[in-house]
Amino acid sequence: MAKRSIETDFVHAGERAPLPQGLPNSTPIFANSTYSYASMEEADRVFSGDLKDYIYTRYGNPTVDALQEAVRVLENGAVARAYASGMAALHAALLASDLNSGSVVLASRDLYGASFDLLFNIFGAFGVRTQLADFSDLEEVKAKADELKPRVLLGETISNPLLKVLDVAAVAEIAHSVGAKFIVDSTFATPFLCRPLDLGADIVVHSATKYLGGSADAIGGVAVARDIADEAALTSAMKLAGGVLSVWEAHSISRGLRTLALRLEKQCSNAEKLAALLAKRSDIKRVHYPKFATDGVTQKVLREPFGGALVAIVLEDDTREAAWKFMNSLELVVRATTLGDVFTTVSHSASSSHRELTEKRRNSLGITEGLVRISVGIEAVEDLIADIDQALDKAQGKNRKAKNA
Ligand SMILES: Cc1ncc(COP(=O)(O)O)c(C=O)c1O
Repeated sequence: MAKRSIETDFVHAGERAPLPQGLPNSTPIFANSTYSYASMEEADRVFSGDLKDYIYTRYGNPTVDALQEAVRVLENGAVARAYASGMAALHAALLASDLNSGSVVLASRDLYGASFDLLFNIFGAFGVRTQLADFSDLEEVKAKADELKPRVLLGETISNPLLKVLDVAAVAEIAHSVGAKFIVDSTFATPFLCRPLDLGADIVVHSATKYLGGSADAIGGVAVARDIADEAALTSAMKLAGGVLSVWEAHSISRGLRTLALRLEKQCSNAEKLAALLAKRSDIKRVHYPKFATDGVTQKVLREPFGGALVAIVLEDDTREAAWKFMNSLELVVRATTLGDVFTTVSHSASSSHRELTEKRRNSLGITEGLVRISVGIEAVEDLIADIDQALDKAQGKNRKAKNA
């Protein structure tokens, strides 16, 4: 070939060399948007589907595929697709549920706030009607399902911020009795603590931004379906709605995923110790921790002996002032608007995730001003306890005396 000019070499030199024969032990970051083939005929076979390969990263990418496959295996599903965020994954799961104008979604009244907004504002604009029910009251769910004949039921394995565990198998049975699909947002449980598809759910979604990634450095989401028939709809939500997961995020989340079991074991153990100690303090009105519930659902749904890695407390001085003073006094625990990271974080639901609700509505849900949610990390538990103790003493020292004194 004729000698090329330096301008051309700047563009092409070193590129498109054959890939190594050795198999990389961890999936590389394929940061390319497109592919070229040896001939137009070969490209045509890829486009037609005769030759299974990659075309364009919005349609599929090896780095993203590795994460999808890992989460598919972990959730014991038939197909998984990854998206740009947990919200995009939920959007895709709803798109895969045959909703059209006039269809009804029966949703848990304890859903994450943005999930309500997605249902009411985005799907609502296309005529989908959302009705709410208390998913911890199975009679109410059954009665509403029978009356409304919903196309979809949508719940969360562990609710936010009161950490109620959903009886996934019972709600799946209700959904199927009226021919509805059951979507479960299992962000707070992760496949380590619960596999909703094994309990009868049809699609499980995750905000991978939380525990799956675990280091507060990536935004992503995954939807996994039990039935391969959902593959086409989940894939077209990815290709056509276009909220694809970035390869960089996919790589971070895959790296996080490898240590999920280790992280969660430690996080759950820390959370349980912390919850037990907090329950003994006289300046704490209430400790919400799934293992403290007496209805047996936690043991039925979450992997034994774990109770999750989140704890919510209501201060005896149930005011915003006391909650914020407690949070501002923390020296180790981080104030954050998220959860599921390796470090311990606190959030104030009334002024963050649930701030759009009226105070009356928040109170009716049990989300009072003195409620603080703690996402417990992997630090040494004694350091966490010391920090939380000193901050509680500062916030409401006057109420402090041992409960059993
Ligand atoms: C339960 C739950 N589902 C979905 C989401 C949305 O996830 P993302 O922020 O990755 O879109 C969140 C975010 O906080 C969440 O807590």
